[in-house]
Amino acid sequence: MDSDKLYLPVPDLKLTDLLDWQKEDERQHRHLVRRSVNELSVSLDSHHPHKKCFGNSITINDETIALFRIGQEVYATQAKCPHAGGPLYLADLEELVPGQVCLKCPWHKWTFSIDDGCSIKPEGRGLVAKTYPVRVTADGHILIGFDSFGPSAFEM
Ligand code: FES
Repeated sequence: MDSDKLYLPVPDLKLTDLLDWQKEDERQHRHLVRRSVNELSVSLDSHHPHKKCFGNSITINDETIALFRIGQEVYATQAKCPHAGGPLYLADLEELVPGQVCLKCPWHKWTFSIDDGCSIKPEGRGLVAKTYPVRVTADGHILIGFDSFGPSAFEM
């Protein structure tokens, strides 16, 4: 936990609202939703019968952020891919080596570590997706850590 961060709560979204990548049935559902997004260009949420999300995009503190759930953990990264601006929040999650889960961008299939955002494939590119520390409270509320308030917090 990063105690020097400013933790802000994600409004209207709790841990149980996110699809859990660790659960096979939810992974299968995500695959179907993803196929719908790719083939039919429809929104992610409209195809989920329970309005759950996997790889959800939210805007908080003037930043658009992707959230991913793995078990009881939530990971937050920038929502746009650092390569060419693809929708990183629609990334596939893959375990490239045991214990290392990566995001695979849907546009050009680059992979990024979900822990620190460093690009893994293709090798040697040195791009990093911004990541954010996340806290999940006992009752499932999600808080994201920032260095400071965004500019809109100071608007009159
Ligand atoms: S935009 Fe994500 S890999 Fe190219």
